[in-house]
Amino acid sequence: MSKRFYITTAIDYVNGQPHLGHAYEKIIADVIARARRSLGQEVFFLTGLDEHGQKVQQAAQAEKKNPQEYCDALAADWQAFAKKLELTNNDFVRTTQPRHKEFVQATLAKLNDAGQFYKAGYTGFYSAKEETFLTEKDRLPDGSFDASYGEVVELKEDNYYFKLGAHQQWLIDYIEANPDFIAPSYRRNEVLGFLKNNTLEDLCISRPLARLNWGIPLPFDPEFVTYVWFDALVNYTSVAAAHGDPALGYQPSTLNSQLSLWPADIHVIGKDIVKFHAVYWPIMLKAMGLPLPKQILVHGWWQKDGAKISKSTGNVVDPIAVINEWGLDAFRFYVLRELDIGPDGNWTDAGFRSRYQAELANGLGNLVNRSLSMLKRYRNGVVPARSNELSEDVSKAAELCKTSLLQNELQAGLEWIWKAVARANQYVDQTAPFKLAKDPAQAQRLDEVLYNLVETCRVLAVALWPYLPGTASKIYAQLGLNESPDIFSKAKWGGLQPGQVIGELAPLFPRKDV
Ligand code: MSP
Repeated sequence: MSKRFYITTAIDYVNGQPHLGHAYEKIIADVIARARRSLGQEVFFLTGLDEHGQKVQQAAQAEKKNPQEYCDALAADWQAFAKKLELTNNDFVRTTQPRHKEFVQATLAKLNDAGQFYKAGYTGFYSAKEETFLTEKDRLPDGSFDASYGEVVELKEDNYYFKLGAHQQWLIDYIEANPDFIAPSYRRNEVLGFLKNNTLEDLCISRPLARLNWGIPLPFDPEFVTYVWFDALVNYTSVAAAHGDPALGYQPSTLNSQLSLWPADIHVIGKDIVKFHAVYWPIMLKAMGLPLPKQILVHGWWQKDGAKISKSTGNVVDPIAVINEWGLDAFRFYVLRELDIGPDGNWTDAGFRSRYQAELANGLGNLVNRSLSMLKRYRNGVVPARSNELSEDVSKAAELCKTSLLQNELQAGLEWIWKAVARANQYVDQTAPFKLAKDPAQAQRLDEVLYNLVETCRVLAVALWPYLPGTASKIYAQLGLNESPDIFSKAKWGGLQPGQVIGELAPLFPRKDV
């Protein structure tokens, strides 16, 4: 059994509808998963929902629903959303599933037996909104707490704590010895700075039932449920365990498959949850005796029109509305082309439209449409003899796109493809096939030009497939190929056979009057 390339996303809180930020992260993971499959790797892509904890309990209460019913109803929306984005996830985890809960409890029992936890009383200032105790450092200069914490109350309670301090130096050494563990590198430096300048406080891993009952009961003390982050992080391993992954050394109660997944190759997450993934999670795994994920890949946050995305102010981008109006691939293209993995991004409707017009409609769409239309008009849609004039430029672009994909440089990969699009559009202008068509003496030259153009479309479709699978498939269909452009090795010049008859043509990105 060979180990699969295992990629995960953060699991979203199921306390509302999905927005641009959620969609962005899932699309990043999907492109990487598709790229790896296209390059011949066996991939397991996991996404899902974080259903326990105060946020969800409160959201359910606000709608006068019991939390499970509330989660079930929303989970259906989120799963439909994953389909809408055409995510190729292999599983969808919900932290209320028995397979997850049983593994969390087994993990807790194991760590408790190993003496990793202790019980202690604590008095402190608690923000229910952020579900966290605040420290003196969180106070504003005037002694109050920021309004973003909501109501802050003083609370005394017993809880279970996970001893983190003992692991601090080991973690620093690990991150220093493994420069790719946290990417991009500035996020790694932030984590190292944090670890070197602070003493890790022990992590509270429980919540008393009196305060929160929507969680997984501690197996060794029924008066408590598990802290939502401890529960949530474990999903990356609980799903592998449920698939019978021998690396987890765990016998699930039901077993339908046997896969080798752990350690994860990439956890894709947003910048706000780095500490959980790059500090708590490695320490939890170390304590569990498990290998660490190979990489934590941190993306930035989207704003809209330069301001925070927020339901309460109405400053939102509804991905479903955008997709319904412009098509899924236009949405996938914009978020991937506009924002590299790392920095923050800013959505503007004008920016979206301008990329749609310039790069999709006038760039790629126009190239494919005019290349195939000319082939149809001048050669009855029959592919002429092979010619290699654009071979070097286009092959190079596909190769560089592949390298970028393997380095998770998704934006750069698109830039390579669009360099080739520009080159081919320029080639049309330079060779002027519409003029060649008027001169019978130029028939052979016209054949050459047409082959170069349609073969460019084909090669670019293969490179494009991980990003814009629908568009890539349409290009293949229009070329009359009844296979899928999902094998990267087909991005090799000369694949299109002379005599091949192209299919029905239709604009890939209809122009919109805006
Ligand atoms: N449930 C936790 C994650 C647990 S992972 C074991 C959580 N959920 S969340 O719904 O608040 O966020 C899910 C992901 O969406 C996070 O990676 C977060 O960074 C990302 N985003 C939420 N808003 C975002 C933007 N505005 N822009 C980009 N990504 C954003 O945290």
